[in-house]
Amino acid sequence: MPDSEVLVSAEDLMLFATRLLDAVGVPPAKSQLVAESLVASNLRGVDSHGLQLLPYYLEQIEFGDMDVHADGRVISESGSCLHYDGQNGIGQAIAETCCEHAVRIAAVSGMGMVAARESNHFGAAAFWAQKMSDAGQIGIVMCNASPLVPPWQGREGRLGTNPICMAVPGGEERPWLLDMATTTVAAGRIFKANINGQPQIPPNWAMDSEGVPTTDTQTALKGLLMPLGGYKGSGLAMMAEILCAVLGGGAMSTELGGKPVRVSQMFLAIDVGCFLPLDEFRARMDRLIRIMKTTPPARGYSEVLVAGDPEWRMEHERRKNGIPIGPGTWKALCEAGDKLGVAAPAAKR
Ligand SMILES: NC(=O)c1ccc[n+]([C@@H]2O[C@H](COP(=O)([O-])OP(=O)(O)OC[C@H]3O[C@@H](n4cnc5c(N)ncnc54)[C@H](O)[C@@H]3O)[C@@H](O)[C@H]2O)c1
Repeated sequence: MPDSEVLVSAEDLMLFATRLLDAVGVPPAKSQLVAESLVASNLRGVDSHGLQLLPYYLEQIEFGDMDVHADGRVISESGSCLHYDGQNGIGQAIAETCCEHAVRIAAVSGMGMVAARESNHFGAAAFWAQKMSDAGQIGIVMCNASPLVPPWQGREGRLGTNPICMAVPGGEERPWLLDMATTTVAAGRIFKANINGQPQIPPNWAMDSEGVPTTDTQTALKGLLMPLGGYKGSGLAMMAEILCAVLGGGAMSTELGGKPVRVSQMFLAIDVGCFLPLDEFRARMDRLIRIMKTTPPARGYSEVLVAGDPEWRMEHERRKNGIPIGPGTWKALCEAGDKLGVAAPAAKR
């Protein structure tokens, strides 16, 4: 294992990931889509949902736990609502189809909501919400996840890190893009600390199995994730659980994590044009963002940011200089490459 992180270009990582997926029999268009979604996450600095996930996906595919050929099917479409069965297909492929349905329906009806069940992990929610904001619509995406989080005041996992994401088209400003786990951080941040040999994590990320806060990475791995902001995070996670699994008729968080994984996802597109001309809406978003960003910074800070800013900046930097991959993650990717006969790209550093 290299002692420190390696630096690889987005293009090289994209090619490597695509070839690894091709090598386990994923159809080319789906390999490309999965690779694109993971590298996009690394580019944005959300490494927990970047290539770190690929060895897990490859294993799932090799063990036959996910059906790479399944495209899912529409269960029903009624008014602005579409119900989808992912048929255990690749999460990214199901999410892409569901986003297309949501945008298509919103363009006709003003709003399009898709609830999908029997899907798989789709990476970072932002990748999908952004597809809707790129179409000039407001995109809202949620999903449920395996039960690593107790409801507030509990000490047994009953909820997932169930993310909530909203992407809103901007004008001169970048789209406003909030993408957050309903825990203090996504579980992948703790996996990242572990795989890269970091013994400590920051306070308030996790609890031990008794529900007592811990900063020890190993204790956290055996324990539980902390709901974001106490009972409010539990409430938000329930909201995602209701709109994804309960409404979609899919598996609840407590039923996830087996084989197949059985995740439920929700995609909601809102056509701005039904309320205001899109240009006027974009100008109003710019105004709102500027109202926030011109707030005098609190002591100890140099500026005020809005959601999405840290990731846009990171993407600018990483496109120019390359993506740092932690030593443990790189080792796991290279081992997958050795096994599947796919050469890893040369690191820039
Ligand atoms: N697929 C799944 O099962 C699953 C489950 C959980 C989380 N996730 C993903 O995990 C990723 C990471 O989630 P997270 O909660 O750790 O993210 P995070 O805490 O790093 O960021 C959350 C949000 O806060 C914003 N933000 C950060 N700093 C800010 C600042 N100073 N001012 C204003 N806004 C700021 C970010 O732009 C982002 O929108 C997300 O992409 C999410 O979709 C996926």
